[in-house]
This record gives sequence, C-alpha cells and structure tokens, in this order.
Amino acid sequence: MQKDLQNLDEVKKEQKDEIHVGSEVFVPFLSEEKIQKRIIELGAQISEEYKDKLPIIIGILNGSFIFMADLVKNIPINCEIDFFKLSSYGESKISSGKVKMLKELNADIKDRHVIIVEDIVDSGLSIKYIEELIGESEPASMKVVTLLLKPESLKYDVKIDYIGFEIPNKFVLGYGLDYAQKYRNLRSIYVLKD
Ligand code: IMP
Ligand code: MG
Repeated sequence: MQKDLQNLDEVKKEQKDEIHVGSEVFVPFLSEEKIQKRIIELGAQISEEYKDKLPIIIGILNGSFIFMADLVKNIPINCEIDFFKLSSYGESKISSGKVKMLKELNADIKDRHVIIVEDIVDSGLSIKYIEELIGESEPASMKVVTLLLKPESLKYDVKIDYIGFEIPNKFVLGYGLDYAQKYRNLRSIYVLKD
C-alpha cells in the first residue's frame, strides 16, 4: 500500500535507486542537489548579463518545463515567460529526425532579447529549427540555454550559450525528460545502464 508522503524529506526518500523499463535499467546520474547547484550558477550568470534588459525567456515544451521553472526562480531580474511546444522523439528513444510545431508563441518577439530554454540538445535539430523560426521574427538578440548537451551526438551547427552539463551520448530520463512520455516527474536524472 502506498504510504502518505507528508513532507519533502519523505518524498525525496521515495526516489528510486534503479528504474526498470521492460528489460532496460536506468541508474542515478545527476542528483537533485547537483542539478540545483548548477541552476543557481546559470541563473546568476544570466541575471548578470541581462540586468539592464527585459529578456523574454522561452521554454521548449514538454521537456524543459521543470528546468525552466527552477531556472527562472534563480533569475531575480525582470523578465517575461513564454513557451513553444515541439515534438521530435515520438514514443521511442531515437529521434524521428523531424520536428513538429505543436504550440506557437503568444508574445511578439521583434526587437526583444530572447533566451531559449531547452532540457537537452542531442542532434541539435530542434534548436536549429527554433533558432531559424525565432530569427525570422527579428529579435534584438537570441541566446540558448540547455540543461544538458550531448556533444558527441551533435549533427547540426548550433550555438549554445549556456550549458548545464555536458553528458555522454546515452539516453537519460527524469527532471522533465521522458521515456515514452513517462518519468518526467522524477526529481533527478537517470541514465540507461550499458
Ligand atoms: P535534438 O533535436 O536531436 O537535439 O533532440 C532534442 C530533443 O530530443 C530534446 O528536447 C528532448 O526532448 C529529446 N531528447 C534528446 N535526448 C534525450 C534523452 O536522452 N532523453 C530524453 N529525451 C531526449
Ligand atoms: Mg525537448
């Protein structure tokens, strides 16, 4: 029977040592503490660089929703928030190689300072697509922040301005990142065991 989790310590203790998805096993990779510490650093850097501007921070849904929330809580300067929704992975661990726009921006970004927030840059296709799309609206500037980057799997020429962690070319889940739409709610990041 599921026990009642009444406080944060109890919720944290319930986090798993291993996650089994069919015959695949995922093990802890980046702890909650490590992620939060890095986000504080990224937030400080972004706040310093944009302190005289009013940036519009644009999250790419779904994967970036948790990172985006934690990041903006560490950016105390005035800013605006919006979201794009893209889909590229479908239901599998392999990118389909195609990007689909599922929700467009509400904000007018002409002459605005845009900061794009991604959970992970893998081949770079999604970011390339977004950069080109946003570029058409003639923003004053555009920078990209990603929590994770897999340098070995980059196939497109993209400029990433702020990187949380560079990671090996292995599938990860948790903290916004899904496997067939599940596990986004985990507080930390797990990696597929070899
Ligand atoms: P890209 O377009 O190939 O750079 O892929 C970027 C998108 O694929 C990310 O925004 C994620 O949604 C998804 N993705 C890439 N690698 C992983 C992973 O290891 N786990 C979960 N999702 C991933
Ligand atoms: Mg994503």
